[in-house]
Amino acid sequence: MELLKIQGLTKSIKKKKILDNVSLTVNSGEIVGFLGPNGAGKTTTIKRIMGLFVITKGQITVCGYDVVKDFEAAMENVGGIVENPDLYKRLTGRQNLEYFASMHKNVDKENIDNIIDMVKMRDRIDHKVKTYSLGMCQRVGIAQALIHNPRLLVLDEPTNGLDPLGIKELRDLLKLLAKEAGVGVFISSHLLSEMELMCDRIYIIDNGVIIGEKTIHEEEEEVTVKEDIYEYTLLTNDKDKVLEYLKGLQANCRVENGGVIVVMRRNEMPNIIKNLVYRDVEIYAVNEKHRTLEQDFISMTTGSKTQIR
Ligand SMILES: Nc1ncnc2c1ncn2[C@@H]1O[C@H](COP(=O)(O)OP(=O)(O)OP(=O)(O)O)[C@@H](O)[C@H]1O
Ligand SMILES: [Mg+2]
Repeated sequence: MELLKIQGLTKSIKKKKILDNVSLTVNSGEIVGFLGPNGAGKTTTIKRIMGLFVITKGQITVCGYDVVKDFEAAMENVGGIVENPDLYKRLTGRQNLEYFASMHKNVDKENIDNIIDMVKMRDRIDHKVKTYSLGMCQRVGIAQALIHNPRLLVLDEPTNGLDPLGIKELRDLLKLLAKEAGVGVFISSHLLSEMELMCDRIYIIDNGVIIGEKTIHEEEEEVTVKEDIYEYTLLTNDKDKVLEYLKGLQANCRVENGGVIVVMRRNEMPNIIKNLVYRDVEIYAVNEKHRTLEQDFISMTTGSKTQIR
């Protein structure tokens, strides 16, 4: 069953497209990764799943409920952490959880205890949050996200600040939730290696665009590259002018080997070339190349697009 469905989510801030036609799904029992470099649009997407911001273009449903039109029903079915867990530092971990529980219907004390055990916080849960390490805060944050038994769990870079053991424990916990309880998990990260160990499927986002999807099977990996995105090399008499124009479109572009390289949807290219010609730029050649997912992965994990190509 589809627990999360995002269709055509688009968001612009001051004419810059932060999200461009983002569509994805998370099914029951599935752990789905949302992989992308800093500034790709992960948190912006997740905030909208959690109903924290208005949606101006596109649609998000949680368990079939529209997060705008059926806000309350949608929110009853989703729990999550956006950026960092939002905890009251002067209260204990347990008091925080009880406070969050009080905001939902049907949460009993026994369930709170179960969740505390699940995130391995029993020893410290009655201490004040200000005495917690980052990893402990993350655990309480996850407990908080689970408090009302949501069917969909959304975690924004939850491994930030966790040590390797903490990461492994989180992975085991998420797998347990997915496989035993059928929870759907949507989890963002900028580390491919981490995602591959944890996820059944990974969406890759770059510059607000989903550029690929990877399904991880036990024995073989299946990679789908979104067909319409290519890397173009333009040979021209005026690289600066081309770059200036492309930057004005917020395109992912750079100068390399004497040409201007731009990553673009294929159907947008004819117009771009027309506009450049109209601006008196001479174009000698346009070369099209498929971006491979591997390249995207490498560029994400090294954090430098220019070095590897
Ligand atoms: N309120 C805002 N005003 C202007 N720009 C914004 C605003 N919020 C987000 N952005 C821009 O939107 C883009 C996406 O940001 P977002 O926080 O979603 O990225 P991210 O993928 O979560 O990155 P990170 O890995 O660093 O957390 C960035 O370019 C960011 O600068
Ligand atoms: Mg973020």
